[in-house]
Amino acid sequence: MGAILQIKPVTDVPAQRCASANPRDPAFFQNPYAFYAERHATEPAFFWEEYGHWCFAGFKDVSALLRDKRFGREILHVATREELGMPEPKAHTAAFDLTEQHSLLNLEPPGHTRLRTLVNRAFVSRHVEQLRPRIVKLANEMIDSFEHQDSVDLIKAFAAPIPAIVIAEMIGLPADSAPQLLAWSNRMVAMYMFGVSHETELDANQASADFMAYLRAIIAERRQQPREDLLSHMLTSDRDGDRLTDEEVMSTAILLLNAGHEATVHTTGNGVKSILESGLDPAALFADDKQTEATIEECLRFDAPLHMFTRYALSDLEFNGINLRKGDVVGLMLGAANRDPARFANANSFDPFRADGANVSFGAGIHFCIGAPLARIELQIAFSELFRRLPKLRLAEEPKYNDVYHFHGLEKLMVRWS
Ligand code: HEM
Repeated sequence: MGAILQIKPVTDVPAQRCASANPRDPAFFQNPYAFYAERHATEPAFFWEEYGHWCFAGFKDVSALLRDKRFGREILHVATREELGMPEPKAHTAAFDLTEQHSLLNLEPPGHTRLRTLVNRAFVSRHVEQLRPRIVKLANEMIDSFEHQDSVDLIKAFAAPIPAIVIAEMIGLPADSAPQLLAWSNRMVAMYMFGVSHETELDANQASADFMAYLRAIIAERRQQPREDLLSHMLTSDRDGDRLTDEEVMSTAILLLNAGHEATVHTTGNGVKSILESGLDPAALFADDKQTEATIEECLRFDAPLHMFTRYALSDLEFNGINLRKGDVVGLMLGAANRDPARFANANSFDPFRADGANVSFGAGIHFCIGAPLARIELQIAFSELFRRLPKLRLAEEPKYNDVYHFHGLEKLMVRWS
């Protein structure tokens, strides 16, 4: 399946609806919000020249498009490659493509409904609430491990390990495999970068092959001896004789491991940065459960970790005056929608006390993030424990974002606390 790409060139776009920004330009990915502010001030529904497809930056449009059944993540169920002018899959990314083929994110109903129903039970709020004590313990262990130092990279020492260990344990993989899982995952998500190189494709493919070989061995073990974990649950779940295949279980486990930590890590980094730069008193931001929830939602709104998701138009259609052909791609700009001045007062200010709080950081509609209840709990605990233990936390150097526009997150976050 690979990345969702506009194949047939779109022509006849009026000049005033076109906008240009190179997603690999450091000035852009360090601060995409300047570009978003221009779009909001001019045409929030615009044709992004570098991507070659229409994009939507308005909160109302993004919310509507996420729920609009005329758009989908998959296209080959309604059109052939030939019809779309889509090239054949590349042989050297076969292993990566296999992990994507059964990914919930790339499926549409009825395949999506079937898989999501089987996985969903593990992620309902009632279930993930039980993980609270484990997450509190993990957060404190991480802080114990670096507290004696002068300064630390909070991404490596705190933000990354917690969600990786939580999701690995939930799936049923040992906690000490988390660094290896993180390494595979990082190499795989490089495929979502704008303008992926051949080397990156080869590397992501190798990581996918290694990841699958690892999971295949564990799946064989669980088939012999099921345990109380998500992997065993997926292998044994039976709905009217319908069971998940090994490939489906592997794809889902990989998606959960990748999606399950990458966005949470970035939200932690971006959110801690927002708080420290705001100069607000952390004690007030985490004064009680209600305010803690509001602070985390504002972190998710203000500096979202995932800035663009795409959809295919499943037929020739019109959306708000824009004519799209079957197979055309649209970019839903979550990070921009969250800063829409038509939806939020002082949209560009970080304000955890705002009365109009909301965000589309977890998406909406049938692909709404399955891990949202878990991510929210992880973030609420991680942030409140961090600022409770280290109330004098401050930036030790200016943080820099990674060169992966879609995954808007920090390379590192150097902090001090003495
Ligand atoms: C702050 C953290 C997170 C953010 C911002 C986030 C964001 C998102 C978004 C925007 C989507 C929808 C994409 C689309 O519509 O195309 C999504 C889907 C998904 N997320 Fe998350 N996510 C987070 C954490 C997690 C966690 C912790 C897990 C699992 C443990 C997870 C698992 C998934 C899965 C499986 C999907 C696909 C759902 C489907 O297609 O039905 N995510 N996430």
